[in-house]
Amino acid sequence: MNQKIFIKTFGCQMNEYDSNRIFDSVRKIGYEKTDIYENADCYLLNTCHIRNKAKEKVYHEIGRVKKKLRFKKKPLVIIVGCVAQAENQEMLKREPYIDLVIGPQSYHKINKTILNYIKQKKKVEETEFDAESKFDYFSKIKNNFNIVSSFLTIQEGCDKFCHFCVVPYTRGPEYSRTFNQILDEAKYLADNGSKEIILLGQNVNAYNNEGYKLSDLILSIEKLTEIKRIRYTTSHPKDMTADLIEIYKSSKKLMPLVHLPVQSGSNKILKLMNRKHTIEEYLKIYDKLKEINPKIEFSSDFLIAYPGEDEQDFKYTCNLVERIRFINSYSFVFSPRPGTVAENLDLIEKKISMRRLEKIQTLLFENQIKMNKSLENNIINVLAENLTEDKNKTFGKSEHMTSVIFNGKKSDIGKVVQVKVTKSNRNTLFGEIVKNSDRKVA
Ligand code: SAM
Ligand code: SF4
Ligand code: F3S
Repeated sequence: MNQKIFIKTFGCQMNEYDSNRIFDSVRKIGYEKTDIYENADCYLLNTCHIRNKAKEKVYHEIGRVKKKLRFKKKPLVIIVGCVAQAENQEMLKREPYIDLVIGPQSYHKINKTILNYIKQKKKVEETEFDAESKFDYFSKIKNNFNIVSSFLTIQEGCDKFCHFCVVPYTRGPEYSRTFNQILDEAKYLADNGSKEIILLGQNVNAYNNEGYKLSDLILSIEKLTEIKRIRYTTSHPKDMTADLIEIYKSSKKLMPLVHLPVQSGSNKILKLMNRKHTIEEYLKIYDKLKEINPKIEFSSDFLIAYPGEDEQDFKYTCNLVERIRFINSYSFVFSPRPGTVAENLDLIEKKISMRRLEKIQTLLFENQIKMNKSLENNIINVLAENLTEDKNKTFGKSEHMTSVIFNGKKSDIGKVVQVKVTKSNRNTLFGEIVKNSDRKVA
């Protein structure tokens, strides 16, 4: 079979990782990738269900493709990801242009499902939660998406059931891959050019496999000489255990940025959300980490205008943003999700929600601008990831994951270089290379 597949991905980093692994799988049955969907024999959409009319966006996208390709041979249309899981059979009924629906814990069945479909033209949905078989299957297929900074999923699913969130329903229960499977994948990535590994999980710090924890994984992966940086995301405050905090003292490669979603600064709202932690507990984690290394910075997710949030609750959130000068945070207005506890709660008026969102974003953006400005004229370590699109400059990331554009060369890619920051804006630092740390070491 010599066929072309077009893959479009919505949603989080875990979906990005999954899309790459799906491609690693389907290339075994003869698919190669195309960036032009008009040329594709297979159109695969990896979907996200986290906010707003996610389902409608998927039908809209498929409707658009259907219209565009109406005079062409119909591609095989596959929907995967969190909407696929949530909607399952419904999708096949509602949109006949869709052929296969596969949920996130059934990707190991994708090759068979495609081949069966080609033979029998029978539409199916595969939405069982079978994370163990999935990861066993993928551990036998190499992760060929080795770029300088590579994702590596170590944990899936969620048992926390925050009242606003669909993830426990779309990804299933918490599951941790085996320690050896992960180390093998990390080694393979390192051997093939990865310099940074970003460990992924919906609750990455809940990782626990036969007693091995996230801290054990980090300490083992950092023994790989080729790996220069390690990050993990997304973590839950409840799982910021002492061992994980402790390794910030000894780890040489764990980056000093902690992405720790807090959602709200009000204990009342945290309780209503079923977040299972208080602001005092969150601040304790922050203080402990700052004490270990004052260079550690925090980023977060904020859920604004959750039902029941009054002006005082919102003020607590603003106060928290002023106390912890978060960098690179995400903020969203609450969006009711089907099947969750908060689905039918009374919404806060749109005008008020939007005003609060604007206010929190102004505060967050001010912090970001100030933080970046304070780096001007300083020398920072940057992992060079690629040339910029126009090929004139080099693009990389600071230790705090801020984008940096500087005058590097192609040969700098994959190296940690020192850059003097000359200019900044909210999202990006600009600078001049001063010294190549790798060359110096060599
Ligand atoms: N597990 C992570 C945690 O505990 O915070 C979050 C994972 S979730 C995929 C990413 C973010 O989406 C959440 O932190 C939350 O801010 C946001 N989110 C989840 N459900 C939402 C909803 N119903 N409306 C708006 N934002 C939502
Ligand atoms: Fe969603 Fe809460 Fe689980 Fe995070 S911890 S994935 S917000 S249910
Ligand atoms: Fe979206 Fe599913 Fe990720 S709902 S954020 S793609 S876990």
